[in-house]
Amino acid sequence: MRGGRARRRLVVALIVAVGLLTSACAQHAPQDTLKPAGKAARSIDHLFVGVFWIAAFFFVLVEFGVLYMILRYRHRDDRPEPVQVHGNTRLEVGWTIVPALILLVVGGFTFKVLFDLSRKPANPMRVTVVGHQFWWEYQYPDLGIVTANELHLPVKKPVRVTLKSNDVIHSFWVPRLAGKHDVEPGRVSQINLEADKPGAYLGQCAEFCGLSHANMRLRAFAQTPADFQTWVNAQHQGPATPAAGTPSADGLALFTTKGCSGCHTINGLSKGNVGPNLTHVYSRSAFAGDTFDMSPANLRTWLHDPPGVKPGAKMPNLGLSSDEITKLIAYLETLK
Ligand code: CUA
Repeated sequence: MRGGRARRRLVVALIVAVGLLTSACAQHAPQDTLKPAGKAARSIDHLFVGVFWIAAFFFVLVEFGVLYMILRYRHRDDRPEPVQVHGNTRLEVGWTIVPALILLVVGGFTFKVLFDLSRKPANPMRVTVVGHQFWWEYQYPDLGIVTANELHLPVKKPVRVTLKSNDVIHSFWVPRLAGKHDVEPGRVSQINLEADKPGAYLGQCAEFCGLSHANMRLRAFAQTPADFQTWVNAQHQGPATPAAGTPSADGLALFTTKGCSGCHTINGLSKGNVGPNLTHVYSRSAFAGDTFDMSPANLRTWLHDPPGVKPGAKMPNLGLSSDEITKLIAYLETLK
């Protein structure tokens, strides 16, 4: 009877353990640090894998040792008390020195990776990342480009990223390209990014920074040098000017009269620096901290009540009418 209950408990414990383990797995996880796609992420991954297998080896060794001892020396009514042993100098010195040496080796490799990661690469492309509640600003000082949420970089080109914060502590993290790095107000730090292959790499803020921390996402687009140059050329264009009398011209007028221009920059038109630069906003695939896919329907929901759909968003509800929103969207659609 007792054995039956114990077995049932064991089965339940196993099911719970396997359930927890498998629920932590995802087949197509876009933010998987274990699938590095760039230099920095790869060196971190190598270090992790090395330490993991050392730890796994000793874990299995110790657990089997414990199980063996439990079974071998378990209490039986007819068994006399085992011989009591106190101290074994050679063993004790051994199990102090061996782990210390292993940790020393792991520490050596860790320091090497840390130094490698912080070294400035030769001839990098420079990008400044500024964390805002709750979106990312990207400045390309050598290219004269300012954009938001979607970082473009040419493949196989080292990018030296300077990290700054405009308000609170954020953490910039594109798991498949590099380790996470805190972005602190009043402090400038640097990391290296490099992507092996073209693709979109998702990331997000990894430090709790307020109500919409979870809505502070980002996307890094690694492009072939030719595609990257096409993007740069497009970013260098001025904003579109809508033809007079069109809904988008009305939208442009509303952009100025409704206060949008006080917070947003549109090159040559306005100089706000509270929200993202909107000169080419419609060329992006998402908006509001990369939270909503770029579409007229989503823009409508957003403009109707920004903090309602993105809690804590600094953009206020401007009380726009449905007609005003339609016109503003018509204008935004021209900003490609
Ligand atoms: Cu920014 Cu969390």
